[in-house]
Amino acid sequence: MARTLTTHTDKTGRVGYTWGMRTIDWVDARVVAIDQTRLPGDVVTLSINTVKDLVDAIRRLAIRGAPALGVAGALGVALSAVNGGDVRAEAALLRTARPTAVNLAWGVDRVLAKLEHGVEAVVAEAVFVLEDDVRRNSALGKRGAEWLVERIGPRVNVHTHCNAGALACVEWGTALGVVRALQERNALGRVFLDETRPLLQGSRLTAWELKQMGVEHTVVVDSAGPTVVARGMVDAVVVGADRITANGDVVNKIGTYPLALAAARKGIPFVVAAPESTIDMATPDGDSVHIEIRDAAEIDPPAGTPALNLAFDVTPADLVTAIVTDERIIHGKPLG
Ligand code: MRU
Repeated sequence: MARTLTTHTDKTGRVGYTWGMRTIDWVDARVVAIDQTRLPGDVVTLSINTVKDLVDAIRRLAIRGAPALGVAGALGVALSAVNGGDVRAEAALLRTARPTAVNLAWGVDRVLAKLEHGVEAVVAEAVFVLEDDVRRNSALGKRGAEWLVERIGPRVNVHTHCNAGALACVEWGTALGVVRALQERNALGRVFLDETRPLLQGSRLTAWELKQMGVEHTVVVDSAGPTVVARGMVDAVVVGADRITANGDVVNKIGTYPLALAAARKGIPFVVAAPESTIDMATPDGDSVHIEIRDAAEIDPPAGTPALNLAFDVTPADLVTAIVTDERIIHGKPLG
């Protein structure tokens, strides 16, 4: 079932996010989420009653972006418990709905750990994960903005990739959380963003967010991103992450790695903005991460031509200037 924005009511009357509602929320024991496949044309919310529908929403990228996936995993376990389902079996389905962002399994496991304490405890933990995402990403954004202003000066032009905005989280983005904090400090210049083929998370979602935030922005084709960097049109590259491994490698949307190479060559900061829940100390390096390969039909190859639709790439740790989290700043070196 889908509802339009105008009929959506937030039970607590929360205000202050970019479009007056959360990307994903828990309302009347249901998961309510913006259907991101319909943006920017239609702002439509999904009211999701079953884990099966939630898994489907995750697979088709109606709900997407690492922190939002973590929250979806957490709320999905709550949904299963409220519905009286086989919570462990449904949790296993949720955990593997997409393979690359570690946040999904993190959110599932965190809430599943409360199962023995009963349904109320499960729901309380899931709602905590939801609320905590806002607090943590807001802190992360401010920390990242401060770091950039200290190094670059009072006006920062940023290049970003994919969508690491409020749409990828609950209310506050990660990379776009930094952008939002720069804007609040009156320290933001222009934001360049890649289209982010093939599903256009940049030109469909990030551009939509930036427009509503009143941020000056310019979209370029993905292959132009490194040239924007090389020509000195930006002062820093700021991206999100789906998984950061123990050695500091960063897994993010395909097309991130060339931007890191360009930033290193140009000598500007390549900054990764991600909550602590994106750090996966159990995985040694980027080569060990399961990179999602999506349906070749998303690329629309010529008939008879095989296509490889790699959804993510790995940026080696030595190309990362800084990882900004909700708790700390890690400078391009192994984590610990
Ligand atoms: O395939 P998607 O749209 O889920 O990929 C999203 C990204 O790659 C984001 O950059 C990442 O999840 C960080 S979002 C804060």
